[in-house]
Amino acid sequence: MFKSLRFRLTLLFVLLSTVIYGLLTTLGFVYFNNRLDEALTRELALLSSEIRPGIDLSGPVPKIMRWEKHVLDEPFERSATIQLFDANEKLVYDYGLHGTPILVKDQGEIVDQAQKMKVYSRALFNDRGKLCGYLQVQLPTTERDRPVTHFLFMLSWVAPLLLASLAFAGYAYAGRAVAPIEKSFDVLKRFLLYAGHELATPVSIIQINSEALEEELEEKSITPKQIPVIHRATERMDSIIKTLTFLAKMESPEYRPTIEKFKFDELVSQTIAEFEELYKEKGIILQCGELNALQFEGDVIALRLLVSNLLKNALKYSKPESVVTVSLTSRERKVILTVADTGIGIPKNELPYVFDHFYRVNSSLGSGDGSGLGLAIVKSIAQAHNGEVTVASTEGEGSAFTVTLPGRTILPPFAIASSSIK
Ligand SMILES: Nc1ncnc2c1ncn2[C@@H]1O[C@H](COP(=O)(O)OP(=O)(O)OP(=O)(O)O)[C@@H](O)[C@H]1O
Ligand SMILES: [Mg+2]
Repeated sequence: MFKSLRFRLTLLFVLLSTVIYGLLTTLGFVYFNNRLDEALTRELALLSSEIRPGIDLSGPVPKIMRWEKHVLDEPFERSATIQLFDANEKLVYDYGLHGTPILVKDQGEIVDQAQKMKVYSRALFNDRGKLCGYLQVQLPTTERDRPVTHFLFMLSWVAPLLLASLAFAGYAYAGRAVAPIEKSFDVLKRFLLYAGHELATPVSIIQINSEALEEELEEKSITPKQIPVIHRATERMDSIIKTLTFLAKMESPEYRPTIEKFKFDELVSQTIAEFEELYKEKGIILQCGELNALQFEGDVIALRLLVSNLLKNALKYSKPESVVTVSLTSRERKVILTVADTGIGIPKNELPYVFDHFYRVNSSLGSGDGSGLGLAIVKSIAQAHNGEVTVASTEGEGSAFTVTLPGRTILPPFAIASSSIK
């Protein structure tokens, strides 16, 4: 239980950290990318401004003056594309790296021959304000993209390392956080075991003495009506104490089920046979669904208690003429035991709590005695066998309890088809 709590806490911590890490790195990435993009645009604008004074606009098409000198002086042109377009947007001059020959008004990005280029253009007007053409400069986006790729590459190997360290730290920390709860839970269980043990003796003394008193009074022909009440109360107390002690033992970390090989189908049939009379008395039909012959390794006494608790409940919470079906099958190396009834059912909002200790559904409080421990025992036994129990129920229609236990050996590969024990 605490192992899974610790594991769940770690998982939650790692999930939260992943989300935070993801958000922060996305923000970092967007910011970093934007800054580099701005720097590239600035570089293009600067390049364009530097070239602009060297353009002659006196002829029919724009021309570069003093350009060669400028080229030799400036190192940036080796990686840039500089183009002049006439007023009709026709390319008239192209220098430098190969770039797109199309005029991109204002600025944008273009992929040309697998090379991604950032493009920046401006309109050229002569002294009279007439449009003479366009100057377009282009730079490969590599300078911006390379650091971004490096950044992403770094994140891609930092992320697993970081998450692994967080998982490790989280697991260690969750262990420390769970320790005090585990300790107090342990104290509670020890208390239950101790209290159960200590209460058992006085309860049996009351039981023995009330029986002796009853006999004595009977001899004197006195039959006070309080004596049976005392009997019933002590019996109930005795049963609760035994159940609590059993539960405390089952749920203690030191508990190991006594493992032995047995035929699960036989255990189920025997338990059904034990209940037959009680079911008949109440007019409820108890029947076998699919009952596979299965050999299983587990605690026979505990598993017998599991089956009988489910049958007891089906009987207690079903009206006459209801049908209770028990089946035992196996799937994917798991044994599946189902007890389904057409009884009173459980309200949807109460379903998550029925396996809790001492929990009883309000509407069934009138359905006879009960301490609300039966299903807690079923759950503990299933978990002690590394299995689980689930319930599906509809109020007024019935309930189906399914116990899934890992590990099984099928005896002969046959199934005893629906045989009815009424
Ligand atoms: N088959 C069922 N149909 C309807 N309600 C059920 C069924 N099984 C259990 N419940 C509900 O779940 C509650 C818890 O069951 P659980 O077996 O733990 O306690 P209980 O039967 O009240 O007492 P006991 O400790 O004697 O078994 C019950 O009080 C009942 O309300
Ligand atoms: Mg019960």
